[in-house]
Amino acid sequence: MSQITRRDFMKLINRGLVVTGAFVIGAPVVAYFYPSDLQETPSEPVRVCNVDELPVGESKTISYGRYPAIIINTSTGLKAYSAVCTHFACIVKWSADKNLIYCPCHDGYFDPSNGSVVSGPPPSPLTEIPVNVVNNEIFIGGAA
Ligand code: FES
Repeated sequence: MSQITRRDFMKLINRGLVVTGAFVIGAPVVAYFYPSDLQETPSEPVRVCNVDELPVGESKTISYGRYPAIIINTSTGLKAYSAVCTHFACIVKWSADKNLIYCPCHDGYFDPSNGSVVSGPPPSPLTEIPVNVVNNEIFIGGAA
């Protein structure tokens, strides 16, 4: 049975560190030159759920292209927005208690009926996404 020497063991550790370092430095470079295939905004409508799965006063956050979207069933109907805050791009959430969309990063609040800024530092409204209901299913974006 062969025994590994201290020198061989240290060589093995060094090689592992070199490979790990190359990956840590190389992966972001590769990702920069070969970005993900996800589109900024999908060209086709994206299914959210069945209408009965999103009662009035509730929301869902789903993937919408490269970024998430938030869909809210407000008292005046279904609304969808990009879930990316217009301040520093945190992901907004739904506050059923306050009946507002809020950004937890810097206490930004948005009106769910039109995405406008209610309070806080966001400089502009959330980007609205069209909502369509087809055969009892909710779709956002594109033309269903
Ligand atoms: S990132 Fe949303 S309020 Fe600052």
